[in-house]
Amino acid sequence: MRALLLGAAALVAATAAAALPPGPPPGPPPPYQMRPVAPGGDRLSPTTDGKTVFEVHCGYCHLLGGMGSNLLTKQRMMMGETPDKGLLANRTDLTADYVKSVVRMGKQAMPAQTKVDITDAELEAVAKYLGKAG
Ligand code: HEC
Repeated sequence: MRALLLGAAALVAATAAAALPPGPPPGPPPPYQMRPVAPGGDRLSPTTDGKTVFEVHCGYCHLLGGMGSNLLTKQRMMMGETPDKGLLANRTDLTADYVKSVVRMGKQAMPAQTKVDITDAELEAVAKYLGKAG
């Protein structure tokens, strides 16, 4: 009986140890890309610098380490693509119209962005920058 109890206790201890989550992986944390400073000037007049506007207004989710990039990396890899396609800037299949509608309407985990978050003029520049498929 005693041996049985000891055996049961050991089994419980082993199960508890196995259920513990693993510690953080060794090495530095993954990189997180910081956003640049917003360009000055009138946000309502068209700008051609779509890359900077994208990094300022979409960067906290869509640059390296952002939650949008992390989610899209998983999605693209499940579709058989390489992990770099998780960054919107590396995609060649996006159209400007698609980008604009996702931004204004949102898409699943991505919240819709209002005209205060990103003005029509700024969105136009971003859509032109990301919409490599036309
Ligand atoms: C709060 C975080 C967040 C912000 C800000 C954000 N996004 Fe997203 N975005 C996401 C997430 C998360 C997804 C993936 C949605 C899903 O599939 O669940 C996504 C998806 C997208 C997609 C769809 C990609 C595809 O494969 O269908 C586009 C296009 C996009 N975002 C563009 C933008 C642009 C342009 C901006 C800036 C104006 C922006 N996003 C701002 C989080 C964000």
